[in-house]
Amino acid sequence: MSFLQIGSKYPLPRRFKDCTYSVWTEFVDLVTTHKPLNLGQGFPDYPAFDFVPSILAQISDSKNDLIHQYTRGFGHPRLVNVLSKLYSKLINRSINPFTEILITCGAYEAIHSAISGLIDTGDEVVIMEPYYDCYEPIVRLFGGIPRFIALKNIDVNSEKDAFSSKSWQLNRNELENIFNEKTKLIILNTPHNPTGKVFIREELEMIGNLCKKYNVVCLSDEVYEWLVYKPAVHVRIASLPGMWERTLTIGSAGKTFSVTGWKCGWLYGPDYLIKNASIAHQNNIYTYCTPIQEALAICFEKEIPKLDSPDCYFQNLSIKLLPKRDAFMKTLINTGFKPTIPDAGYFVVADWSKQSSKIDLSSEKDVEEDYKFAKWMTKNVKLLGIPPSAFYSKEHKNLASHLIRFCFFKKDETLNQARDILTNWKKSLDGCKL
Ligand SMILES: Cc1ncc(COP(=O)(O)O)c(C=O)c1O
Repeated sequence: MSFLQIGSKYPLPRRFKDCTYSVWTEFVDLVTTHKPLNLGQGFPDYPAFDFVPSILAQISDSKNDLIHQYTRGFGHPRLVNVLSKLYSKLINRSINPFTEILITCGAYEAIHSAISGLIDTGDEVVIMEPYYDCYEPIVRLFGGIPRFIALKNIDVNSEKDAFSSKSWQLNRNELENIFNEKTKLIILNTPHNPTGKVFIREELEMIGNLCKKYNVVCLSDEVYEWLVYKPAVHVRIASLPGMWERTLTIGSAGKTFSVTGWKCGWLYGPDYLIKNASIAHQNNIYTYCTPIQEALAICFEKEIPKLDSPDCYFQNLSIKLLPKRDAFMKTLINTGFKPTIPDAGYFVVADWSKQSSKIDLSSEKDVEEDYKFAKWMTKNVKLLGIPPSAFYSKEHKNLASHLIRFCFFKKDETLNQARDILTNWKKSLDGCKL
């Protein structure tokens, strides 16, 4: 039998309707082919993780052989215990480590297990755009119906050099109109990727009140909880009155300790919601890697006593990232982009409209303008960013047509290289006849 015949028997199952490889696959391939300076994916290009790997080394050398065997399926006891200590303090209620926390394979699996454990065919899920790109396909995979609402930049027509991430706002009436009796879940992402917006208490209360009114669960993706630039403050929606009962909160070790390759995440929330996600997890990966969980437990045990001090890894990271953020914003402004200054995280979305009349993107065959631009930049300017329309539904991709996302969690040397590349590019554009 030929491959052709076998292949035709295996089309992608209907549950993956409209799914294709994600933006990450496509743009990681572009890095290999065109070798641009890579400001695409969100991780440091230098060892920003401090003492963390040495703890993993100690574990692998330890005499405790069981560290190399399966651990408890819903979370290694030492890790759930320390996370319960941390989050009980942060949200001011006692969290049961064994019934109210689930350890997952990255925040990604936490999203998958939460959605698959809560959503049935025909349930509606409110998703704010731009969104972390896996939310939509995972909701659809389990029969859910995404209802999209875009954060709008209310300052879009301002003459300023840059936008504030606070300008990206949810419209209260639009949000109220989207909620109805079929709404089962709302996915919140604060601090927000890619705008760097940190939702303020009043916005969270508006969301929370609708959740209470319609008896809806909030899945709160808070993977950037520690990467907040003062004076912005991260408020955990689970800590608001009446919200613990209806919130599952997601965290990520990759973001917390700058070790994205460790792929450990977690969910915390009331036992009846954690139970649903745990059943999904049990029928997926069942249990996450023991040595990584042990190492993370030790890292947290080390950092929790310093929580309120600038020496604490979590606090220190945003202090160290701030000069990088500011330098890169300056680069973008000086080279004709209009960035949204993030209050959190390590991404920036920048508007390239001012340059659009000077470049010819006709060589690129994509439908979306931002894809054309990002690919054109990669090939011709040798700088890679991500097209943010990947974070919008089909109907709203046009909202990102003149945007590009860059990551600035990079060596100063890399950011200086980006500055030089963009400065030369701007000079060449300014020299062009229009
Ligand atoms: C908003 C958001 N949620 C979830 C994830 C996935 O995190 P993890 O690497 O822990 O799976 C990411 C990764 O970039 C993210 O930006």
